[in-house]
Amino acid sequence: MTRKIIPFVSGGSRTDTAVWLEALQAAMPYFSIVEINALDEPARRAAQVAIVADPAPSDLETLPNLKWVQSLWAGVEKIVADLPVSEMKIVRLEDPQMAKTMAEAVLAWTLYLHRDMPYYRRQQARGMWEPRPMCAAPDRTIGLLGLGKLGRAAAGKLRDQGFTVCGWSRSQATIEGVATYSGVEGMKSVLSNSDIIVILVPLTHETRDLLDEKAISTMKKGASLINFSRGAIIDDAALLSALDRGHLDHAVLDVFREEPLPRSSPYWSHPSVTVLPHISAPTTRATASKIAADNIARFFETGVIPKAIDRSRGY
Ligand code: GLV
Repeated sequence: MTRKIIPFVSGGSRTDTAVWLEALQAAMPYFSIVEINALDEPARRAAQVAIVADPAPSDLETLPNLKWVQSLWAGVEKIVADLPVSEMKIVRLEDPQMAKTMAEAVLAWTLYLHRDMPYYRRQQARGMWEPRPMCAAPDRTIGLLGLGKLGRAAAGKLRDQGFTVCGWSRSQATIEGVATYSGVEGMKSVLSNSDIIVILVPLTHETRDLLDEKAISTMKKGASLINFSRGAIIDDAALLSALDRGHLDHAVLDVFREEPLPRSSPYWSHPSVTVLPHISAPTTRATASKIAADNIARFFETGVIPKAIDRSRGY
């Protein structure tokens, strides 16, 4: 029997695509995982499901009979924005391993700010020996924007590390040992009480420019910011101005409106900005391939499409 073809649609480099194809094929030997460019017309028409990783919408449009796509990325805002609303369902990656990876990154970069590493780096460059007063973890409030699977895992890790943790989400969440808020007033409370704000909300029409000039001015003077979600959540001009004025102390930015970050961006050389190349929580190939394999096998056995995103909500 010929194996069913599952198209793989990736916006990544050739090397990245090749490594993914290998991992996906190994996880589902009973299907044939084929890169979209290698598919002929009949195969494109036959495809009911595709695996996607930051796909070009023009590629997806060549698969007219897709019932659903399995994303290997947690964030699917580009597919939601670029593809016309259709019957096609979008299943984002929900991988417990990614939540762990993200929680670890949040802890790492929170500690980086908490223990004044950017400051000591600058002191060393100037040959200066000037200790800053130490602040104990419980005296530092970390505010998370977004309490989905990734946000919850991060909140737990920060709490267990001894920080005072609060968090905001669209609908009210409950997390043991974490002060949780929702709504406009809740957002103000989190912004105004936190020493470090960590952005983990998905990018939707509601969260685009969430951290605009007004929101940033609500933040505590001297607070810092970590963005591990999407660049478009922050108004770049407002952030740069707040850093230049000293209203904010430091920003750790892993995501940008344009990636790779253009050479001309002022972020590269800003003394109060740490630029990271979108590395906070990369998908783990083995676990994600297994999740995709299980979802696709179940679909062909039972017809059940895994829980898809709500397109009107955007995630
Ligand atoms: C990475 O940014 C992802 O959405 O998985």
